[in-house]
Amino acid sequence: MNLFHFFARPLIAGLACLVCAHGAAQAQTRDVDRTGGPYVPTPQVVVDQMLRFGRVNASDFVMDLGSGDGVIVLTAARQMKASGMGLEIDPDLVKQSNESARKYGVSDRVSFQAMDVFKADLSRATVVTLYLLPAMMANLRGKIFSELRPGARVVSHDYHFGEWQEDERITFDAPEKEAINGIPSATLYLWIIPAKVSGRWRIQVDGSAHQQAVEFTQHFHTVKGNLLNAKGANLTDISVKGEDITFAIWNGSTRHHYRGKVRGGSMSGTVNLDGREARWQAQRASNPM
Ligand SMILES: C[S@@+](CC[C@H](N)C(=O)[O-])C[C@H]1O[C@@H](n2cnc3c(N)ncnc32)[C@H](O)[C@@H]1O
Repeated sequence: MNLFHFFARPLIAGLACLVCAHGAAQAQTRDVDRTGGPYVPTPQVVVDQMLRFGRVNASDFVMDLGSGDGVIVLTAARQMKASGMGLEIDPDLVKQSNESARKYGVSDRVSFQAMDVFKADLSRATVVTLYLLPAMMANLRGKIFSELRPGARVVSHDYHFGEWQEDERITFDAPEKEAINGIPSATLYLWIIPAKVSGRWRIQVDGSAHQQAVEFTQHFHTVKGNLLNAKGANLTDISVKGEDITFAIWNGSTRHHYRGKVRGGSMSGTVNLDGREARWQAQRASNPM
């Protein structure tokens, strides 16, 4: 039985089990609308793995959505010297988290706010961490995709974004979780936020007399594309990872492999043209082509 099934049981039975599992000290007394699920802390060993899996370091700003007692952001600050913020609907847990930040001497780098995660501005985060129920994951993924900058990492404990497939996944033994959901293991998911490339682009290769016009359509990590002004040519093998884009343009049996970076409405990189490297640039077209 995983946590989803655990929570999917009738609400009263589920909450009663949670209170039993975590003891009266952690029982939820506040009447707050926990749309993302009840307070169930991630065990410290799993927190440590989450931060390693997300490659958290001192230059990161970590946001934990539904931060509970603050353990994820506090650990990122204490062990990795990262900065960050926890957003939590329960003001008692926020108070406790801010007190812990002061106690550990990291309150200059991390803070906790009582807030519904849907009201948060996520644009500052370089890493987002999650331990929220599947329905909340589904509701949040569009906000996370659109607000986080390309290259930002998202690490989730046990739950995923459905059709937005993760870039990496690990499962490992975690006996500490047996008391939480009856399963002595944890699964972590990692997504790297891709650049937004939907729309029409004009590609210019240095030294070439004409431009290529392409149209990309993007659904989370899946990007498809068409060439708009080239008969008999095909656009294939499109991949966007963070700011990095690669694709191939076929002309007959000749394949040209483009590699580059996306920066807002521009792309640039190199293409291998029959044995020689050439530079290319692309601009997002505001007008129909
Ligand atoms: C499963 S706990 C995870 C706590 C912490 N992130 C961790 O991993 O230890 C989920 C937390 O999300 C909070 N929460 C639920 N819905 C929320 C919402 N809409 N906005 C902010 N926090 C929410 C709950 O109060 C709870 O503390």
